[in-house]
Amino acid sequence: MFEIRSKDNLGRTGVLKTEHGEVRTPALMPVIHPGKQTIDVKRFGAEIVITNAYIIYRNPELRDEALRRGVHGLINFDGPVMTDSGSFQLSEYGDVEVENHEIVRFQDEIGTDIGTSLDIPTPPGVSHRRALEEVEITLQRARESLEYRERMMLNAVVQGSTHPDLRRYCASQLAELPVELHPIGAVVPLMESYRYRELVDAVLSSVSELPPSRPRHLMGAGHPMIFALAASMGCDLFDSAAYILYAEDDRLLSTEGTYKLENLQEMPCSCRVCTDYTPSELRGMEAEDRRNLIAEHNLHVSFAEIRKVRQAIYDGSLMELVEERCRAHPRLLEGYRRMSAYVELSERFEPRSKRSAFFYTGPESLGRVEVHRHLQWVKKNLKGRMAIAGPSRKPYSSTLPSSISGFRSMKPQADGEWSVVVADVPFGLIPLELDQVYPLAQSDAPGIMDLEARHFLRELILDLEGDVIISEDLCSELGLQLPHPYSGEVETYVDDLDRIRMIAEYQFGEGAGDALFPDDVRIERSRNTGKIRHIYSGEKLICTMRASDGLFVLSAEGARRLHDGTAYPRCRVAVNEESEPFAREGRSVFAKFIIDCDNNIRAGDEVLIVNAHDELLATGRALLCAEEMMDLNHGQAVKTRKGGF
Ligand code: GUN
Ligand code: ZN
Repeated sequence: MFEIRSKDNLGRTGVLKTEHGEVRTPALMPVIHPGKQTIDVKRFGAEIVITNAYIIYRNPELRDEALRRGVHGLINFDGPVMTDSGSFQLSEYGDVEVENHEIVRFQDEIGTDIGTSLDIPTPPGVSHRRALEEVEITLQRARESLEYRERMMLNAVVQGSTHPDLRRYCASQLAELPVELHPIGAVVPLMESYRYRELVDAVLSSVSELPPSRPRHLMGAGHPMIFALAASMGCDLFDSAAYILYAEDDRLLSTEGTYKLENLQEMPCSCRVCTDYTPSELRGMEAEDRRNLIAEHNLHVSFAEIRKVRQAIYDGSLMELVEERCRAHPRLLEGYRRMSAYVELSERFEPRSKRSAFFYTGPESLGRVEVHRHLQWVKKNLKGRMAIAGPSRKPYSSTLPSSISGFRSMKPQADGEWSVVVADVPFGLIPLELDQVYPLAQSDAPGIMDLEARHFLRELILDLEGDVIISEDLCSELGLQLPHPYSGEVETYVDDLDRIRMIAEYQFGEGAGDALFPDDVRIERSRNTGKIRHIYSGEKLICTMRASDGLFVLSAEGARRLHDGTAYPRCRVAVNEESEPFAREGRSVFAKFIIDCDNNIRAGDEVLIVNAHDELLATGRALLCAEEMMDLNHGQAVKTRKGGF
C-alpha cells in the first residue's frame, strides 16, 4: 500500500494507497475538528485529512452520525481519512474515558481508512524507568489492536520519550507487527519549545528501526518551518492543527517562522489573502472572518512548502532546502547539525547519483552524507605517493600533457609515479581520475573558503599517510607550515585507462576496473566535449559514460564482464523464478520478486539482475536501496535495460 517513487537522503516521495484514493507523500493532513469545521481544506491541496475519533466517540450526536454515515460523511471529506485515538487528550489532560479495544473497534466501525491504537504519549525528560513502563503498554496495545481491527489500516505509534534506546526498542518491536504505518509520538512538546536537537534524536532513533516500506508520521508537526528537515529524516506524513490554532491566535505561519498580526506592517506572502488584504484591514475585522482568512493563508503556505519538499526530493536538492530552512532559527540549525551524528544511517539510503549538484551552503554541508561517503572511499583507497594541489578551474585534469606548478615538499621530489590529488571544498581530496564523476564534479562551493572548510582540508591533509607533497599555493592558503620547502611541478594529464579503471572501482567496488576493462580497450569521445563516451573491447561495447554524472552504464558485454570478474552478491539483485522470464525480456523488476541483493546497492546504481543460481539475466538501474528492495512488497525496484542476454 506504500510505494517509494524518488529518494534523497532519508527522505522519499511516495504514494500511499487507501480505499478512498491515493495520497502523494510527503503529505500534510489538516486536522478536521468534527462538528466545528468551516474551512474546505481540499481546496488548498489536502489529499488526506486527520480527525479525532475520541472526540466523536465522546459526543453522542457525533457518534451516532458517524456510525450511521461513516466518518467521511460526518466530516464531509470523500478522500482518505486518518483518525487519532484520544492519546493526545491523554497527554493534555492526563486521563481518557475509553479503552483501547473500544476506540480501535469504533474507528473500524465508522469506516476510517487509517486508525490509531491508544498509545501512551510519554512526555520528554521523564525517567528511563517510567518511559520503559509506558512503552510496554503502548506495545501491548498495538499488538491487541491487530485483533480488534477488521479492515482499516493501523497506525502503531513509536514512543520512548527522550531516551533514544527506548525509541529504538519500541520501533524495533513495532516493526515485527503486521501494521501499516508508524507515527512518531510525543514530539509536540519538543517542537513547541524549540528542542530540535532532541527531536532529531527521537526521530532518527525511531526511524533507524522502522521498516522502510511503511510511511512514518511525525505526529503534531504542522509548522511549515519543520517540513523539510522532518522529510529529510524520513518522515512521510505531517498533521496540522497549527493552521487553525495559530489563526485563532492571530498568528501567520511561514517557512521562516511565525508572524504576529499585531506586528505586521506588510503581509508576508503572495497568497490570495496576503494580496487582497492589508494587516490593518485584517485587524479591523470580526474575529471569525479574520480567523478564517489567516487560516487560509496558513494552509496556503503549508501546502506550498509540502509541494516544494516533494519537488526537492525528486530533484535531489532536499538537503540544500533543509540547510536554507534551518537558518531560520539557531535551534533548528542545531537540530540539523545533530543530523550529522546519524550519517551512517543516512548513507544506507542515500542515492549515489542525483539530478542536482551538491551546493555548499555553509560549514554544515561538510557533515552531509555525500562527503562522508567520499571520504570513506578516500581513506580506503588513496595510498602511495601523492601530490596535493589546491583547486584550479574544473575540470582539474587534462586530456593533454599539462601541469600544476607551485609545489613544495618535505622531501626532494623523487622520480617515479606521483598520483595527483586535488584538495577542494566540500569533498576534501579528489584524485584527478575522478574529477568528472558525481558528485565530485557536480558540486560547487564559494571560491573564498570559510574557517571551517580550511580547517577541514588541513586536517585531511595532515592525516594522510605516506609520501605527500603539497603545492605552495595550497600551503599558504591553508596556513600549513611545512619544513624544508622544495618546489616542483606535477602532471595533470590523466591516462584514459587509469581514469576509467578508477571510476569503475569507485562505482562498482574493488576489482571492477580490471574486470571491466582489458588493456586494449578502445575509447570513443564525444565530438562536442571531448569527454569519454563509449568504451569498447574490439567491436563490443562494454559501457557508456553517462554525461549527466560521469558514471558507467553497462552494456550486456559490460554486465557479463562485471559478473565474471566479481563474486556474488556484489552489484547483484537476485530475483525468484517467477520473475526470471520477465527480467530476461527486459521488463522492470518488482520489489516483491527480489530474494536477495548486495547490501551496498543504493538507488540509482547500475546493477546485475541474476537468478537464485547467480546466472546473469539482465542489467538495470536500481530505483531503491538494498534495504528497501528487501523490505518493500510493492512497486518497481530495478528499471531493467533491454536485451543482449
Ligand atoms: N498527537 C500528537 N502526539 C501524539 C501522540 O504521541 N500519540 C497520538 N496518538 N496522537 C498524538
Ligand atoms: Zn499569505
